[in-house]
Amino acid sequence: MKRTMFRCLPVVLVVLWIGACADKPADERDEDMSRPATFGFQTSLHQTLIDEGKITYERYCLGCHGAAGDGAGEAAVFLNPRPRNFVTARFKFSSTRSGQLPTDDDLRRTIKNGLRGSAMPPFNLLSDRKVDALVAYIKTFSPEWTEREPASPVPFVDDPYGEEGRAEAVARGEAVYHGFASCWSCHPAYVSEARISDYIVQFGGQPREVFRPGLYESDGKANDEGEMVYPPDFRRDYVRAGMTVRDIYRSVSAGITGTAMPTWIDSIDVPGKSPGDPPVVSQKDLWAMSYYVQELLRQRPPLFDEGQVSVRNRPRPIYLHGAPTPAAPSEAAPTSQPDVDFEF
Ligand code: HEC
Ligand code: HEC
Repeated sequence: MKRTMFRCLPVVLVVLWIGACADKPADERDEDMSRPATFGFQTSLHQTLIDEGKITYERYCLGCHGAAGDGAGEAAVFLNPRPRNFVTARFKFSSTRSGQLPTDDDLRRTIKNGLRGSAMPPFNLLSDRKVDALVAYIKTFSPEWTEREPASPVPFVDDPYGEEGRAEAVARGEAVYHGFASCWSCHPAYVSEARISDYIVQFGGQPREVFRPGLYESDGKANDEGEMVYPPDFRRDYVRAGMTVRDIYRSVSAGITGTAMPTWIDSIDVPGKSPGDPPVVSQKDLWAMSYYVQELLRQRPPLFDEGQVSVRNRPRPIYLHGAPTPAAPSEAAPTSQPDVDFEF
């Protein structure tokens, strides 16, 4: 009798363990193999994954992110923005709130898609296994991954517009961007001052006449490491974490760790004046602003005129491959830039 019980024990444990996983909601389920599990054999599987990750890392990532993961690889001095320092475990682009650790899916997405407008290349030819291994290995550079609770993505609201509602979303997005969220306090404004004032009144504010100098350019903000970061001017710059409406929605709702870009999903709910009134602004407006931002991104000219350099690139302009290199560092744009393919 006793012996049968012992024989059954592993089966019982596995059944209990599967049961425990099934109870969790989909977004909290630990689908990833990169977290050590408590069973001995799984810990060694995890170590194998880390060992594999190290090999891939040393082949593809070390030159920029450094052997110690501190973002100080050989190439780092030439790069602006600089490669991420994995030791501090502060990741910018995630579905989690600004300041929190990213999810494994966030890291996988960054590795597979790269970060456009920075040196971080897309590694979309690596197998899923290799990407999982990289994720596991990157985490060994910082104790934060074991000391801090894993974070969950911010609540996800369904897109109320869709492609057929694009025009409505863009119009609403323009109003919320300028009249409620004041995104122009860091990013540029894209409508006249009088129009902004009208939008502010539309959301219940006082008419406004005085705006910051340089309203139509982005305003540099220091990041946590004391470096000047220019918020993108959506008509001129790339956004890094992807250009689909969903990608933009993620960046806007979750915010960007270590920079001035806030977690908007926490500050966008304003109920109507009386019960039954529609809300003044709601989380759905994050979608409207995402459509609006994408519309601005689509206006980016394939070629810039001479002298037009994006403000964001000013500290150290990065010239595209094939463009003539200027004799001395200056703000002058190269006379011709190759056509940039631009897909959504
Ligand atoms: C040519 C240089 C270069 C190489 C090679 C490179 N990276 Fe990066 N990586 C960067 C730069 C630059 C950034 C920071 C971009 C920014 O701040 O917007 C970055 C950022 C990241 C981030 C952080 C994203 C976030 O949310 O903060 C991760 C993760 C990352 N890289 C992983 C990798 C991995 C894994 C490899 C190898 C497979 C790799 N990188 C190879 C330059 C590089
Ligand atoms: C307090 C300043 C500030 C405000 C206000 C602000 N942003 Fe940002 N935003 C930033 C900074 C700084 C970055 C750039 C971070 C970086 O690349 O290092 C940024 C980046 C972005 C990005 C690019 C993400 C990517 O993938 O590269 C989007 C999209 C964006 N902001 C949208 C918005 C919208 C929409 C609003 C208004 C609802 C807004 N921001 C308000 C500072 C701000």
